[in-house]
Amino acid sequence: MLVIFGATGDLTKRKLVPALFSLYRQNALEHTSVLAIGRKDFRSGEFRTYLRSESFGYADDTSKQEDFLEKIDYLGLPINDPAGYEPLREVLQAHSDKNIVFYLSTPSDLFEPIILGIAQIGYNTASARVAFEKPFWLDLESATALNTFVAKAFSEEQIFRIDHYVGKETIQNILAFRFANTLFEPLWNNHYIDNIQITATESLGVENRGTYYDHSGALRDMIQNHLFQVLSLAVMEPPHALTSAAIHDEKVKVIRSLRLGTDLASHVVFGQYEGYKQESWVSTTSDTETFAALRLEVHNWRLKGVPIYLRTGKALAEKKTKVVIEFRKNASILYNEQDNIDRNRIIFEIAPHEGISVGFNVKEHGETKKTRAVWSEFIESKEWPEAYERILGDLLLGDHTLFTRWDMIEESWKIVDHLVNCKEHCPILFPYEKGGRWPQAADELLAMDGREWYE
Ligand code: BG6
Repeated sequence: MLVIFGATGDLTKRKLVPALFSLYRQNALEHTSVLAIGRKDFRSGEFRTYLRSESFGYADDTSKQEDFLEKIDYLGLPINDPAGYEPLREVLQAHSDKNIVFYLSTPSDLFEPIILGIAQIGYNTASARVAFEKPFWLDLESATALNTFVAKAFSEEQIFRIDHYVGKETIQNILAFRFANTLFEPLWNNHYIDNIQITATESLGVENRGTYYDHSGALRDMIQNHLFQVLSLAVMEPPHALTSAAIHDEKVKVIRSLRLGTDLASHVVFGQYEGYKQESWVSTTSDTETFAALRLEVHNWRLKGVPIYLRTGKALAEKKTKVVIEFRKNASILYNEQDNIDRNRIIFEIAPHEGISVGFNVKEHGETKKTRAVWSEFIESKEWPEAYERILGDLLLGDHTLFTRWDMIEESWKIVDHLVNCKEHCPILFPYEKGGRWPQAADELLAMDGREWYE
């Protein structure tokens, strides 16, 4: 049984229910029923009516919708009050499915009372699993305290920390692309790679999430988790096997070897879109960054000296998520004097389209010595599954590979805490136009190194 806390929230209706429906259509939910828990006082029938209108606008095939909805029951619970969990105990006791997965799709300040409530009714059994939506709190100190608290009720094996970026097909494909081919990996080092750029820009602003976002900002909302996950996959050493533990070991090594420049202020850029302070539930004096760009390095044998540039921001002109691996310029004595010879690049594009492209030079048609740059592209012909479909599927199977291990969170916070601290001492928060371009200072960050963002 999948027990979802925060069932009337945005994530449940927009992502979780459509993903569960998709699993249902693939017969992957045959033995799983869903108990949706929220503070609102719905009856199950009312909740299903709510889902009919709120969720199914997002799913394409509604033919089995009604059968699927029958699998979902609703329970109203004072989720912030562990003493009020008795009704949950009664429902779980009456249910035949004893394989219970608790999914905490709530703000992280509710994690502790929910864990306490579950433990209080005795359902933190050895077979139970518990999944947490990000963010895993606010900084290293609060995350460590939360982790220590959760560890009293559940073992690491039972804990699944979600980062939906890792469930995206192309992000998973980074490993396969790198380690299933002989063509690329021998070049994946500082002799050949010039720089790496990871971008996750969004056109949406904070929408109705001001309360959360104003305490979070781009560093905590995107960099500490999503961008560091992508970065670790892009630069990690080959794991000794494709097991969850081996992959996590390598990812953590990457985060541990990240280095920020000593002159940190010149390696980070923060911005805030105009009008952010007027958004609902945002402080009118807010200095929260809605854009962040930074330069760092992985201090290891393979990639020492290769700059890695990250940028992410809200309310920008377009939604774009991609990883660009830029190779050094052709250093041979041939062809390299031409203006039109381009660097080789590998691009993992995640949004708005998913695919992998390799850029290389060929002879210009009809010419003898001139070249031109071309792209070879891989685009999956099958439908891309939603990240949450994969995340939920693996959660129900109990496979940890796509979830975040505690040590990765710990190491990530160490760096992000340092950056947050720098933000407090580095007063510049560049304004940028809502729906426009990122602050120019983010271009200068690369220009300083003689580089530019590859669009
Ligand atoms: C979430 C962040 O984790 O990821 C949001 O909290 C952000 O602020 C979202 O909008 C982006 O996810 P995606 O899959 O749309 O790129």
